[in-house]
Amino acid sequence: MLLAADGFVAAGERPRETLFMRTIAFVTQKGGAGKSTLAASLAVAASEAGERVVVIDMDPQMSLVKWAKVRGKSEIAVEAATPGKLKAVLAALEKAGASLVVLDTPAGETSASEAAIRHADLTIIPARPNVFDLWSTEATRKAVKAARKDYAFLLNQCPPAQQSARIEEGVTALEAMGGLISPPVSARVDHQEAARYGLGVTEIAPSGDAADELRKLWNSVKRRVGKAQMGQRRAA
Ligand SMILES: Nc1ncnc2c1ncn2[C@@H]1O[C@H](COP(=O)(O)OP(=O)(O)OP(=O)(O)O)[C@@H](O)[C@H]1O
Ligand SMILES: [Mg+2]
Repeated sequence: MLLAADGFVAAGERPRETLFMRTIAFVTQKGGAGKSTLAASLAVAASEAGERVVVIDMDPQMSLVKWAKVRGKSEIAVEAATPGKLKAVLAALEKAGASLVVLDTPAGETSASEAAIRHADLTIIPARPNVFDLWSTEATRKAVKAARKDYAFLLNQCPPAQQSARIEEGVTALEAMGGLISPPVSARVDHQEAARYGLGVTEIAPSGDAADELRKLWNSVKRRVGKAQMGQRRAA
């Protein structure tokens, strides 16, 4: 059964200010946009901020299951789940006191991404600031809208000098389509180094710029997912 291996289930309760478990999914058709990289570092940043975090890897590539193996014993439980099992797994985690579940999905339009969108409170759609990635976001946005769920775009791998015209174009295009979450995430070697060691960027270089961005990103995501959840519970 999920999580039995590291005792997470028995380990305690959600932080008091978190009434409900929140589930966020990283989804985009486009391969290589940064779903797994961001999911891992965001999970770590959230865990450092006091969340009880579980990562569910729905990608047959198993990037995050492998990341967890390199990581070794950790506060963050990482497990694989098939689309058909996701609902039951999430219900078990909610009962067990998880406060945040991060879903990583494969590229393409798959049953995994469809299930993740359906069960997440918020779908984050990462895109690099280039036209092919930006075009791909549209299909994912449509799928989230069709499921009547909430989404936010996130620009990733931006050149660290944020003001380039290309970034501004990306920001404008995504803002026009709906919510763009901030800050944009810059391309930094810390992301690649952290992944190699089974870490998040806030662990490999806690005072670095990548860590700073990811902590800010967690704060934005936390606010956003809270709002999405309130809206969905009111509509239900
Ligand atoms: N902000 C970043 N800075 C530097 N490198 C990054 C950043 N985000 C992602 N990368 C690198 O980009 C590559 C693709 O990232 P990742 O594997 O996370 O994408 P993905 O969307 O999960 O891909 P797939 O669709 O194949 O699952 C990796 O080599 C990763 O290290
Ligand atoms: Mg991936």
